[in-house]
This record gives sequence, C-alpha cells and structure tokens, in this order.
Amino acid sequence: SDPDLVARATAAKATLGDRVFVLGHHYQRDEVIRFADVTGDSFKLAQQAAARPDAEFIVFCGVHFMAESADILTKPEQRVILPDLAAGCSMADMAVLGQVETAWEHFQDLGIAGDVVPVTYMNSSADIKGFVGRNSGVVCTSSNAKRALDWSFEQGSKVFFLPDQHLGRNTAVLEMGFDLDDCVLYDPHKPQGGLTDEQLRNAKMILWRGHCSVHGRFTIDSVRDVRERVPGVNVLVHPECRHEVVRAADYVGSTEYIIKALDAAPAGSSWAIGTELNLVRRLALAHPDKQVTFLDRTVCYCSTMNRIDLPHLVWTLEELVAGRVPNVITVDEETARAARIALDQMLALP
Ligand code: 13P
Ligand code: SF4
Repeated sequence: SDPDLVARATAAKATLGDRVFVLGHHYQRDEVIRFADVTGDSFKLAQQAAARPDAEFIVFCGVHFMAESADILTKPEQRVILPDLAAGCSMADMAVLGQVETAWEHFQDLGIAGDVVPVTYMNSSADIKGFVGRNSGVVCTSSNAKRALDWSFEQGSKVFFLPDQHLGRNTAVLEMGFDLDDCVLYDPHKPQGGLTDEQLRNAKMILWRGHCSVHGRFTIDSVRDVRERVPGVNVLVHPECRHEVVRAADYVGSTEYIIKALDAAPAGSSWAIGTELNLVRRLALAHPDKQVTFLDRTVCYCSTMNRIDLPHLVWTLEELVAGRVPNVITVDEETARAARIALDQMLALP
C-alpha cells in the first residue's frame, strides 16, 4: 500500500490515542486490518465493541450491520463510525422488516406463531434484530448457531431462521441431526412464502430465502476439483456455503474458527479454504509451512467488505483529528432497545 497513506493513518491514529478504537473483521483488506486494535469474527467483534467504554470513537472496519450492532452494544455517548457508508451486506438486505412482519402475520393467522421462535443471523439489519427481540427470539453468528438453536428449541417447537438459509439448514441438519425435510424455504417474493399451510405446520425450521453471494460461488464441483488436484487436502468452509458444499467438506466454522484450525494444523498439511479471499490470502502468507489454497479457481472477494480501503480509513481518522465526526451509524432508540434484547440473549447463551 501507498507509504504516504500508511504514514498518515499511523500519525492520525497516534494523535487520537485512546480516544479511538478500531475494530476489523477478518475479511478486511491487509492495508486496513493492520490498523485494527482488535480483529475478529462477527461474534468476537460484537463482544469487543463494548470492551473499551472510554473510547469516544469506534471505527468499525467491516460492514453496516456490524456497525449497527456495535452502536446498540456501546454506551450512548460513544460514536460508531463506518469508514464507507456503502459497505453494506447483500445478504442482510435480503430480509426487509415489512416482509418479515407479513410472514409473521401469516403464522399468526395459521395459529402457529406461538410455537415459532424467531432467530436472526447477525448479518441482518437492526430492524430485523428488533423484530426478533420483540418476539422473544435470539441473534446468532456462525460461531454459536447451534447453541442458539438448542436454546430456541427449548422455547418453542419451530424456528423461523433469518436471513441465511444456508447457515440455518447446515446447522439444523449437520449439527443437530434434523432431516432436510424438516426445513422449508420461505420465499418473501411469493404469496405466503410459496408454502402450503401444511408445510408450515409440519416444518421445524422455516428458513428465509437469503444467502451470501460470495459463499454461494463455491460448488460441489469446487470441492471435487480441489480433491483431485491436491491429494489429502483438508477442505475447510464457512457455514454460509451451500448445504452440499458443507456436507462434502471436512471442517466447517466461522472465520475465527478457520484461523484457529490453520494455527493448529501440522506443518506439511494441505488446506482448501471456502471463504472470502482476503482472509484466505492472509492465511496462506501466515502459514508458509502448509499448503493453503482457495477452494475455487475464481476470485471471490466480498465487494462491500472491500469498500473499506486505506484511503477511506485515512480520511476517517483525519476527520476525527480535525474535530469532525463522519459516517456515524446510529440506530434509533426504540429499535436499539428491542434489538439489544435479542443480542443480549445471544451473549448470554451457555
Ligand atoms: P463470521 O466472521 O462471523 O464467520 O462471519 C462471516 C461473514 O460473512 C461476515 O459477514
Ligand atoms: Fe455479507 Fe457475504 Fe460479504 Fe459476509 S461475505 S458481508 S455475508 S456479502
């Protein structure tokens, strides 16, 4: 990266000192993540957001839903900043509050809403987390989805899982022993989700039709192909991948899990990783004694994570030095209160 920008970011961060706390998700670019005080997966970053209550500014190098969650979990006077407001998440955008409320009303009309516990993946808007909090549900991340579902099935006999169908299905089927037939797919663009009343009554998991377009690019052919190319390879994927890909893999877990798995792997072992490319590249550099390859032959960055680049970070930090506070992410009080119930329930999971 440009040495002038590196020097400017270093100087601005030093000037701000403890007034600023920089969080970085594992999918961030190298040029950005080197300035993070803490790096992590979505769960760790949600925990860490509240770790520095004296910091005036939390610069969140990640995507919009993460910054919203940080705003909800931090003190009111702390300001959460997203260096580029266009850093959204296409999966989070696939569940809109009005659509979710329409689905819920349908469950109420059917008389099943009392049995249904809503669970939302962290990758959702604060509005959706608020809906889940108001209806006694829980937030989960890729590192605690099984614990969240275990807890939810103690509260009710069905789960309404938002917005990532793959995390919901993979956790229910591969970690909890459900049948694929126990899961139905609710399509918000079809009347009544495209499901019959009987399907909804019989289902244990009602999965929202959302997905991650980055992880959706890995296919069963990517797994077959790498197993042919690299004999003895360990295939390690993120649970946002399609069901058949996760089923064919050797290991599955969150970004933090993937990092720890590589740290624990013996020298000389081979790994094909099915997740975002910035992270896979860093892992390959960090483990020269292991063969680390990307699961697919095509390039697979998360374009919105990549929007946070060094120029945006420099601009943000220099604005703060100049006494201006750009790109503040604020969740309105009522939504934040409801969303906090669902987030706190996640943080309290055993
Ligand atoms: P984790 O870091 O929690 O594994 O999530 C990955 C992701 O897609 C974040 O958007
Ligand atoms: Fe969203 Fe997928 Fe990017 Fe994660 S990798 S931020 S789920 S689009």
